[in-house]
Amino acid sequence: MNQSPRRIYVFDTTLRDGEQSPGCTMNLKDKLLVAEHLEALRVDVIEAGFAAASRGDFESVSAIARQVKHASVASLCRALTKDIDAAWEAVQGAAHPRIHTFIATSPIHMEYKLKMAPERVYEQAIAMVQYARNKCADVEFSLEDASRSERPFIYRMVEGVIRAGARTVNIPDTVGYSIPSEYAQLIADIRAHVDLGDARLAVHCHNDLGLAVANTLAAVAAGADQVECTLNGIGERAGNAALEEIAMALATRREAFGATTNIDTSKIYAASRCVVQVTGSRVQANKAIVGENAFAHESGIHQHGVLANPLTYEIMTPESVGLPRNQMVLGKHSGRHAFESRLNELGFNLNKEQIDDLFAKFKNLADRKKTVGDTDIEALVGDVRVPIEEQFKLLQFNVLASNAVTPMSTVRLSVKGKTVEQVAAGDGPINASFAAINKMCGMKNLILESFTINAATSGADALGSVDVRVRNNDRVARGHGSSTDVIEASLLAYVQALNVLCSE
Ligand code: KIV
Ligand code: ZN
Repeated sequence: MNQSPRRIYVFDTTLRDGEQSPGCTMNLKDKLLVAEHLEALRVDVIEAGFAAASRGDFESVSAIARQVKHASVASLCRALTKDIDAAWEAVQGAAHPRIHTFIATSPIHMEYKLKMAPERVYEQAIAMVQYARNKCADVEFSLEDASRSERPFIYRMVEGVIRAGARTVNIPDTVGYSIPSEYAQLIADIRAHVDLGDARLAVHCHNDLGLAVANTLAAVAAGADQVECTLNGIGERAGNAALEEIAMALATRREAFGATTNIDTSKIYAASRCVVQVTGSRVQANKAIVGENAFAHESGIHQHGVLANPLTYEIMTPESVGLPRNQMVLGKHSGRHAFESRLNELGFNLNKEQIDDLFAKFKNLADRKKTVGDTDIEALVGDVRVPIEEQFKLLQFNVLASNAVTPMSTVRLSVKGKTVEQVAAGDGPINASFAAINKMCGMKNLILESFTINAATSGADALGSVDVRVRNNDRVARGHGSSTDVIEASLLAYVQALNVLCSE
């Protein structure tokens, strides 16, 4: 008899574990946009942040809690009353709020980090789960560094927190130390030794040994109910288990796992691109599911096979992750309708003004470039998507650069509607242009923290895509610019970051 597949719950932590990794910080508007994609993907839980960490984190968690309609919204918090209070205050406006509290349970963490005896850790965990349950019906408890914790202590903790009211208990491989056979055994042992009742068992794997997805899937096969993951696998150090890989493994090999998720896999590609755009953190070309080459067949033998029958070399279709097989090529004769429908297919939900602005930019680009592909469009969207008030606008620039004289740049900006111009020298034309802008923008302590330049597409007429991170005192902002001219792309990115800095 065919059994119906077990339902696996997907808990996404892109906005918490993902966002806390270096180079992946997002501002509030970025986070709300990622949350929209997570809803479209139909994840079950969105971990929106760590409300007690800062005022900014608190506000992001509250705003996401108010925006999200279907998924549960969780805030992480240490097992401390003040953290739990902040978490609850931030998520209580959600349709389905969750408090996610944790304490470390491994000998090394308890002795050196917490400086607490196991008995005190146990008591604190129980008391804090009860405290959280008095506020919120849905409480998750995580045993941080569970994979390096002692079995008897794990069983006692899991049993205790469930009795205290936790509905989900998470067994993280915090430092990515486990291997699949061992992690699966841990999950099976917990199931065998503890009466879980209605509580769900969750797994949360880090990728230090490149095993996060393998460990997660082994745990699912051993009886885990909830998987914790991030888009593109972003996260602390080597990252977390990648949502798209778990979802596609469970969808493609459903019979092998006897398990299924509620994920709408056709929304994966757009969600992944959104995370690339807002974090500036690219995915490698050969990354499973969402890498540029994931569905590309280069060798003649493979191409021939795929043309004869796609199943020869394709275990899943590009369409199943939201990548159209025949990507429509747009050019200077394409109309607004075709352009708008491509934007929708790519998952961009933009208002009329943004589309008008983009369409003008698209026409401009199409005049300079024969064809405009998806990555060009994404690069253009990156320029307009941050709906901020523009104090600064780039009007014109003029650079003088050679290997014989010091590079100089003259930049003309509109600053709050007034035209101003400055000249500066620098190590190179971009550096000189940024120095000229610094003289006009009225911010004294600007530091360019990062600058990345990439060709958004291939070919000599490729769009240059620039991402910058700029700091002014304790504020950091990201800017994106694209143009067939890399100096222009750099200036657009820099100006966008300055606009974000003065709008937040
Ligand atoms: O990796 C980890 O252990 C965590 C927990 C706090 C859930 O992120
Ligand atoms: Zn983690």
